[in-house]
Amino acid sequence: MDLEKARKRVEELRRLIREHDYYYYVLDQPKISDQEYDALMRELLELEQAFPELVTPDSPTQRVGGAPREGFVTVRHLEALLSLNDAFNERELWDFDRRVREITGLPSVEYVIEPKIDGLTVALTYREGIFVQGATRGDGELGEDVTPNLKTVKSLPLRLRKDLPFLYVRGEVYMPKVSFARLNAEREKAGEPLFANPRNAAAGSLRQLDPKITASRDLRLFTYQIIRIEGAEVKTQREALDFLEELGFPVNPYRFVAPDMAAVVAEIRNWTPERRAAFPYEIDGLVIKVNDLSLHPILGATARAPRWAIAYKFPGEQVTTRVEDIIVRVGRTGVLTPIAILTPVRVSGSTVSRATLHNEDYIREKDIRIGDVVIVQKAGDVIPEIVEVLKEERTGEEREFRMPDRCPVCGAAVVRPPGEAARRCTGGLACPAQVQERIIHFASRKAMDIRGLGAATVAQLLEKGLVKDVADLYYLKKENLLKLERFAEQSARNLLEAIEASKNRPLERLIYALGIRYVGEQVARVLAQRFRSLDALKEASFEELTSIPDIGPRIAESIREFFNEPRNLMVLEKLKRAGVKMEERGEEAEAKPLAGKTFVLTGTLPTLTRQEATELIVRAGGRVTESVSRKTDYVVVGENPGSKYQKARELGIPIIDEEGLKRLLGLV
Ligand code: IVH
Repeated sequence: MDLEKARKRVEELRRLIREHDYYYYVLDQPKISDQEYDALMRELLELEQAFPELVTPDSPTQRVGGAPREGFVTVRHLEALLSLNDAFNERELWDFDRRVREITGLPSVEYVIEPKIDGLTVALTYREGIFVQGATRGDGELGEDVTPNLKTVKSLPLRLRKDLPFLYVRGEVYMPKVSFARLNAEREKAGEPLFANPRNAAAGSLRQLDPKITASRDLRLFTYQIIRIEGAEVKTQREALDFLEELGFPVNPYRFVAPDMAAVVAEIRNWTPERRAAFPYEIDGLVIKVNDLSLHPILGATARAPRWAIAYKFPGEQVTTRVEDIIVRVGRTGVLTPIAILTPVRVSGSTVSRATLHNEDYIREKDIRIGDVVIVQKAGDVIPEIVEVLKEERTGEEREFRMPDRCPVCGAAVVRPPGEAARRCTGGLACPAQVQERIIHFASRKAMDIRGLGAATVAQLLEKGLVKDVADLYYLKKENLLKLERFAEQSARNLLEAIEASKNRPLERLIYALGIRYVGEQVARVLAQRFRSLDALKEASFEELTSIPDIGPRIAESIREFFNEPRNLMVLEKLKRAGVKMEERGEEAEAKPLAGKTFVLTGTLPTLTRQEATELIVRAGGRVTESVSRKTDYVVVGENPGSKYQKARELGIPIIDEEGLKRLLGLV
């Protein structure tokens, strides 16, 4: 066969295989037998082996998984992949609806209900209709490039059924319940550790450095969100779902348009536990989204989640057990939390022996007493809760619980600020419980990531008086550590090295590590990006803080309070003296020539692929966006540039070629 003939046949085979993949994996209606399908695939493989120049990245043969990789490449998502706020009951749905109506000024708003698939989020990029990149959610801004792994997911289209210049979609990769059970059974036989649930199994399977392992697992996909599209327009979420389906994506068949919140609530009541259990995959709730997409930008988002959607979580499994005792835990911010110690009981796949009681009002409202028989509920990853007391089971032996007036750990007075439900220990940094929780948080993986500094070691350090605050960690000596239980020469050296290494964590980690109330990872990131140094953040006024889109008055107030506290300032001073990095600019910015610069790529570059150019820019601290605006710093133009080139000229944005880009990168 000559090359031309082979090319024709290869194209024909790919078209056929794609079509049958679609019928089999997306529509679940195969049109040919497995043998016939295998024959097509074999013929294609043989032709591609004979004519390697015909292999393309979107060929169905590329699903098998390539060679294992060293590690995953980090990719920046086009837009932050936000999470969802939860509603646990109808009242919280009505609250959500009220906010939506207040912001939009509309008397009622139409919603779409979709199932909430319990899997892991992926973001998929298609250029000119071809799947070019897939990434995990990661921290929402940066994810891992798992393109070869995703190609093994058979229902993921490698090529769209319609031509589109650009598409960026969000979906959920999941593992069906039976496949999960089968996988765990195999693992048990092989003596391998079991996956806790289908979601963990899906995540563990997708994040494999060897895509061949991913290919051997039964992973499926549902898409549900168009994040960016070029060459077509959708006006509602309902249209978006239908359009995704037309493009060949698997989309969950259930989608319900409700004219208002009353209709949403009525529909949700139809979702019985039996109906849910009948699905072949896990659904942990329903997602309710504002249907009219033009309202989404008006509603906007907080740092964590959009205001145009909410996740309604199904109530969890319920069991009865007994409250053996009620204890009080003192948290990082001094809040006293009552906790019920329960007779251990299995619920939703795990053993539960504690339940949070939130605060004293909650205990009073539910009238929970020590010795009571109670109904406990657990939903997903949520901490177990006591739903109800079986009062008819009382014997008269039950004891009422009273919150202590003094901190059970340090003995300082406990106060309940007016308007708050929580009691707080006034011991502050003198309270070992607070200090302990603070240090554990400071050293945790998402904060300063000091490996080897767990709760047990922190407790010992405090007990021996070796540390009084987080800054003291940086002044520890080997002799100190050798005094601790289970510490020898090598382990002491390791811990000191880990502490030393933590001095250079990015600013956002340090801000998060400080444990300022309401400053989670996401807010810490926003603050680091904006202020670039701890000193600048310290000086920021309430007004300056609230002028930042993601920062509301509650967060701003808390930040001001933190920096107004002299004891905190002392700790910061000690951290600085120890050499903990407190700014982003320093040597880092110098090493990153494109920090803060935004690029747009258009046309074909002479030597770099789009992917390579993007990676170089991102690695140098720059960003690559899709469309040209006044915020664009440079437009990199190759052969056959698109309308972006025109736009750049109109806006007077500097236009450079590959050579120019390389010069900026310091490569030539
Ligand atoms: S929409 C910005 N729709 O649930 C809004 N999410 O708890 C994006 N999920 O991280 C989310 N099914 O991974 C949306 N039909 C659905 C979903 C869904 C599952 C996941 C998603 C998200 C998590 C939030």
